[in-house]
Amino acid sequence: MSKKCNIAIFASGGGSNAEQILQHFENKEVADVACIVSNQPNAGVLDRAIKYGVRAIVHNELDLQEGRLLEMMKKLQVDFIVLAGYLKKIPEDLIQAYPNRIVNIHPALLPKFGGKGMFGMNVHRAVVEAGERESGPTIHFVNENYDEGAIIAQFRVDITEKDTPEQVAAKVLKLEHQHYAPTIEQLIQKL
Ligand code: GRF
Repeated sequence: MSKKCNIAIFASGGGSNAEQILQHFENKEVADVACIVSNQPNAGVLDRAIKYGVRAIVHNELDLQEGRLLEMMKKLQVDFIVLAGYLKKIPEDLIQAYPNRIVNIHPALLPKFGGKGMFGMNVHRAVVEAGERESGPTIHFVNENYDEGAIIAQFRVDITEKDTPEQVAAKVLKLEHQHYAPTIEQLIQKL
């Protein structure tokens, strides 16, 4: 794309991935983080928005249902949406307005261990219980169904017999921090 790309990061929690992305694009020509969007007024990610001087937007259920979030994204000229631990379903109007321009990171190797209810430690517990010998994040496009959009990239880490779900979570998160922002940059370069 000829102009600088405006990214919106959607997050519901602490936002360690959001922070990596903020840091990555801080001095990049290709894109700016235009805003952090959260459905949780107390989310830690909002402190990170303050730290980086980025606009923070907190929305409620009605903002989603009545199209106000989409209006806001348009007003801010957002070109690309990054989900980083955002626990709400993305409404249809946003998906249609941003085809192949909304990405998510899931902390397991999809299509395994995805779908409704599969978030946070639920995922890593299921991976360990299933006796998996590897796990890792999946970066994928977002469509109408949870965790079912086309896969963009996956990164793998070994799991030993002794690993607890917490240890698996830490290994996977490390890979997320390494790979999410560079993968986003590659996608944006191709817009
Ligand atoms: C990550 O594990 C990611 O895979 C999932 O939500 C978590 C967000 O963690 N989608 P953080 O808030 O970025 O630390």
